[in-house]
Amino acid sequence: MPSIAVYPGSFDPITLGHLDIAARAANLFEEVHILVVHNPSKAPRFSSEERVELIRASLAEMKLDGPAKTVSAKIMVDTLDGGLLVNYCKMVGATALVKGFRTSVDLDYELPMAQVNRDLAGVETVFIPADPIHGHVSSSLVKQVADLGGDVTKYVSEATARALTSSAANRKAQA
Ligand code: PNS
Repeated sequence: MPSIAVYPGSFDPITLGHLDIAARAANLFEEVHILVVHNPSKAPRFSSEERVELIRASLAEMKLDGPAKTVSAKIMVDTLDGGLLVNYCKMVGATALVKGFRTSVDLDYELPMAQVNRDLAGVETVFIPADPIHGHVSSSLVKQVADLGGDVTKYVSEATARALTSSAANRKAQA
């Protein structure tokens, strides 16, 4: 049985920090599912289909998929449209969740979820510390920087930067 992990999140949009966590998880597990999950407490900028497309394009840019991939694990992208995360884990045979954390604030937010997921179905959470070069990068900050006309190419893939620039222009035109 391959060791399978699920890396869930809003990924609205995926950043280089998220991609670094996915790549590092891919060195620990044989299969990693990046899972776009609807978080009811957030109003997403991109639809789940757009987020999946941006993740796929970013993985390709980073050579984390396809024949030239730089990690040995299989990285897949999927969406969870309602229902419990642990049910998705059961469905695909995953025994672990992967979460990245930048600071203790992230850990405070993640810890109860990790405990509930273990309680519900025995699914363990593996926490991977963010590389300090990505420590200040978040999806909300990159959206804000792009909306204000800043350069986000240091924080996201080229495909995601283009999507953010065009979303910023649309929002400006509608304002
Ligand atoms: O990137 P985010 O928005 O911080 O991710 C939060 C997410 C999607 C991982 C969290 O909301 C989640 O796990 N949702 C799945 C629903 C679920 O199973 N909830 C019960 C256990 S936490």
